[in-house]
Amino acid sequence: MKKLFGVIGDPIAHSMSPAMHNDAFVQLGIEGYYHPFHVKPEDLPAAVQGMKAIGVQGFNVTIPHKSAIIPLLDQVDPLAKAIGAVNTVVRENGGWTGYNTDGVGFVRGLREAYGEPLTEKRVLLIGAGGAARAIYYTLASEGVSRIDIANRTAEKAANLAESCPYPVVGSVKTTTKAAEQLEEYDVIIQTTSIGMSPLIEASPISVEKIKAGTFVSDIIYNPLETQLLQEAKKRGARTQNGLKMFVYQGALAFEKWTSQTPDIERMEEMVRHQLGGNYVNN
Ligand code: ATR
Repeated sequence: MKKLFGVIGDPIAHSMSPAMHNDAFVQLGIEGYYHPFHVKPEDLPAAVQGMKAIGVQGFNVTIPHKSAIIPLLDQVDPLAKAIGAVNTVVRENGGWTGYNTDGVGFVRGLREAYGEPLTEKRVLLIGAGGAARAIYYTLASEGVSRIDIANRTAEKAANLAESCPYPVVGSVKTTTKAAEQLEEYDVIIQTTSIGMSPLIEASPISVEKIKAGTFVSDIIYNPLETQLLQEAKKRGARTQNGLKMFVYQGALAFEKWTSQTPDIERMEEMVRHQLGGNYVNN
């Protein structure tokens, strides 16, 4: 009998995870099946219990359940607890253990593309929501010593930095101020929804002052190249979209469930194929 995995979210119909994971099961000859489950917020406790009862081996968690699921789990990994969000649940010793592979997935993709140690680099994070928190805490937990944050609401950025349990220094600034000082940064990470539909013509920061060779990573992958990445590239920056983060968070979850490593290139191909090119499809 196939082992059952899945993803819970609301909405969930457009998730690209099922195609990516089911293809990896086939490639590796694993008897597994990954299903998208539409779970409304009020049904979350029953869904988590029910998945245990019917023998689901592990699942991903997406919007809007990433924080709400934490008290419903048996154990939570320290990094996921610090971030306050779980995107991967694994059945361990009969109970559910929650992890966060979003931050680790992002940082793996960043390190791979950047190619140099990040520890002493000047990093600017744009945004202070859930995704920014996962990335900031993971970078800090991996020894990146200085990260500045630019966000529309300064208070949210300050709160994010202050509650980080890992050693890191940095300042909080407005995006206007950060734009004026952009040449100071080696790596710029964009985590807001600006650049995604319906804001595809918008960019969260002016890149007039960016220095050539700066690395700009945008977690958006639909569209594949946001306005920010296009403008940064024109000024000689190196750029990366959010595909690698999406693929690595999935691959890391897959490894936790199966102890096998999926083919990253192929996973990325599956997602690209589903996206159907550089356009917005939802
Ligand atoms: P996620 O979990 O995807 O990170 P989120 O927690 O809602 O989403 O965070 C969204 C981020 O995008 C925040 O940094 C938000 O800025 P605020 O903290 O000021 O709300 C930012 N954001 C979203 N829409 C924005 C807009 N139109 N202009 C500026 N920032 C925006």
